[in-house]
Order: sequence, then structure tokens, then C-alpha cells
Amino acid sequence: MSEKSDLNRRHFLTVATSVTGAVGVGFVAVPFVASWLPSARARALGAPVEVDISKLDDGAMVRVQWRGRPVWVVRRTQVMLDRMENSGIELRDPDSLESIQPNFALNDFRSLKPKILVVLGVCTHLGCSPTARFDVAPADLGPDWVGGFFCPCHGSKFDLSGRVYPAMPAPTNLTIPPYRFVGDNLIIIGEETGVAA
Ligand code: FES
Repeated sequence: MSEKSDLNRRHFLTVATSVTGAVGVGFVAVPFVASWLPSARARALGAPVEVDISKLDDGAMVRVQWRGRPVWVVRRTQVMLDRMENSGIELRDPDSLESIQPNFALNDFRSLKPKILVVLGVCTHLGCSPTARFDVAPADLGPDWVGGFFCPCHGSKFDLSGRVYPAMPAPTNLTIPPYRFVGDNLIIIGEETGVAA
């Protein structure tokens, strides 16, 4: 081997070693970065969310994020439930047979406990977030309004169980996510009877 080709070979080895070293740093760096990411990533991807409702007043609502979407928890009063049941409003899907919810929510209250509503705050028309309108017979919603949710984007109305009124742009009721209770005041959204959704 000539002196020139020997020099070339050594130059190649030096470059190859440097590149390998740089790749090695890359491989070392990725697990280090990944080690502090999972909890944030897991939350974004759908890890269960805990909601403490011990301080949630009667008739009030709390908003949380689950899988990047708003979830509302409402503590309905008996008066709100009675008004809803006696409103006489004909709903598009009163038994929620064409809507999305866990099996345990296939009841008029669409919930595990009648007074606690857990519902996805996303309109089933085009995905706007409806507003909570718990006032009765407001001027803009009419004398028959007994409280519920109103989507200002295209005017869809939902009752206090998230059931859509007839002839609305929204085709189905609001979605009920999987959830479970731990005791009276802690709700785990994203888990149903101990199984992650
Ligand atoms: S997005 Fe709610 S009515 Fe259209």
C-alpha cells in the first residue's frame, strides 16, 4: 500500500469514527429525552383524568380536558332533573340509541348517578363547543327552554342530558365518555369499571 493510499485510509477511518460517534450521541440522547416525555404524551393521548367534584356546587359545571377535548361535569339539581323530565320536548334520540355513550349511560339521565352528568363538550354537528345555558326561558332561546346546552355555531339545542332537540343541525346526542367513580367525589374520566378506554 502506497503512503498516499494509507493516508487516505486513515482519513476515512477518522471520518467514519466521527460519524459513528455522532450517531451514538443521537441514540443516547433520544432515550434520555423520552424518559421525561411519557407522562405529558400519555396525557395528550388519553390517559385517564381525575376530577374532584367535592367542591362542585348544585347547578354548577366544571370543565376538564381529556384526550385534548373538553369534558363537562355538571351537578344537576333535582329541580333541573324534574324540569327536564316534565318539559314535554320531543327529542330526536330520546333513548340515545343512535348516540355514543357507555352502556351504563343508556338511561334518561345518561349517567351513572342521576345528578352527575359527565359529557363531552363537543357538538356532534361540526365540533364546536356548545355553551351551558341552565337559565329557564331566556329571551334568545324561547319560553320552552328549561335549561341545557346551546351550540351558537349553527343553533343546535341539547337538553340537560346532552340529548339533541329535533330538526337541529347536530345529528346525535352529545357523547358520554367512559368514566367511573372512586367514592362519592372522585371521577376518573377515561376508565370504565377499572378498565382504561
Ligand atoms: S357545530 Fe354545533 S350546530 Fe354546528
